[in-house]
Amino acid sequence: MTTKSLDAYLGAWAGADAGRIAVARTIGAIAEAGREIAYLVAEGPLAGDLAAAVTNNVQGEVQKHLDKHSNDSLMAALKQAPIAALASEELDHPYVVDPSAGLLVALDPLDGSSNIDTNVSIGTIFSIMPHITGKNPATHDAFLIPGHRQLAAGYVLYGPQTSLILTVGAGTVGFTLDRRSGTFFLTAKQVAIKEKTKEWAINASNQRQWDDEIRSYIGECLAGTDGPRGEDTNMRWVGSLVADCHRILVRGGVFLYPADKRKGYTEGRLRLMYEANPIAMVVEQAGGRAITGRERILDIQPTALHQRIPLIFGSTTEIERIERHYAEPTAGEAPLFGKRGLFRE
Ligand code: AHG
Ligand code: MN
Ligand code: MN
Repeated sequence: MTTKSLDAYLGAWAGADAGRIAVARTIGAIAEAGREIAYLVAEGPLAGDLAAAVTNNVQGEVQKHLDKHSNDSLMAALKQAPIAALASEELDHPYVVDPSAGLLVALDPLDGSSNIDTNVSIGTIFSIMPHITGKNPATHDAFLIPGHRQLAAGYVLYGPQTSLILTVGAGTVGFTLDRRSGTFFLTAKQVAIKEKTKEWAINASNQRQWDDEIRSYIGECLAGTDGPRGEDTNMRWVGSLVADCHRILVRGGVFLYPADKRKGYTEGRLRLMYEANPIAMVVEQAGGRAITGRERILDIQPTALHQRIPLIFGSTTEIERIERHYAEPTAGEAPLFGKRGLFRE
């Protein structure tokens, strides 16, 4: 299959526009690190214990060897890119590259850390934002830009294939790594999320911790033909946001990581700046939607660099259905989880 390389795609998009050339170079640097991480991931245990705990990161979560290695690879590559600073899940504070440069990058260097040693797809998520003149790129404040202002976003998925999913604001496109040449080739010219779906993804083990809106929506899904939905549904949960997102891009569906009552989860689990925002841009540019339940993710004014946010995204008709559960909390009571339901404590 002969098709356009990532460099050719970015070259054609950027043309002679200096701002776009800087974004293209930054994406190129991320792709270079992604290729290196992909080769390491594919080695698995031959490369040592990639899931070994190294230390705790700023989220208070265990940082594994591959988390640290991925962060180091991306930092090394991005030091050569025209960026003012980068922020990362694995760094307490932004790392300054060139304060006079016009871009900022926010990274989840390795998403799906709990799957590292299970040979299940994991990935790198990135967001490229403008560096607002006058803001000190060493500060968290410089990064607190709403997602709708992202210039580009995407992820590299380390699965059976290594995929790079990208949006520069002109649709969402997909590239596949050719391992022989080390080149990412364009293999999906316009990703389009199916409007209608019956497939949903949520960590159902947290069911008793959910708010009523989520309980009633999932209750309807589980009730299938016996409930108000009138159709059976299907459930999938990989446990790597990138892999769950990828499945939704390919065949539709909806993903939910809502806030819940557990300590530390009252604002959700996923991080706004380097998980929810870039995924939301990819999803919207592919014709889907991304919300917290009540608000569009990309409209949120961030208040902290490592802020968490409830994240719900996917096919439009399913998002509308979920919004109805938020708008009319009692309307969607389902037999299994409703107020008088079987599974209601
Ligand atoms: P990370 O590995 O970057 O910390 O992110 C893990 C995230 C995400 O990939 C996934 O959707 C979610 O955590 C899974 O959470 P649970 O283990 O609570 O299901
Ligand atoms: Mn993550
Ligand atoms: Mn991570």
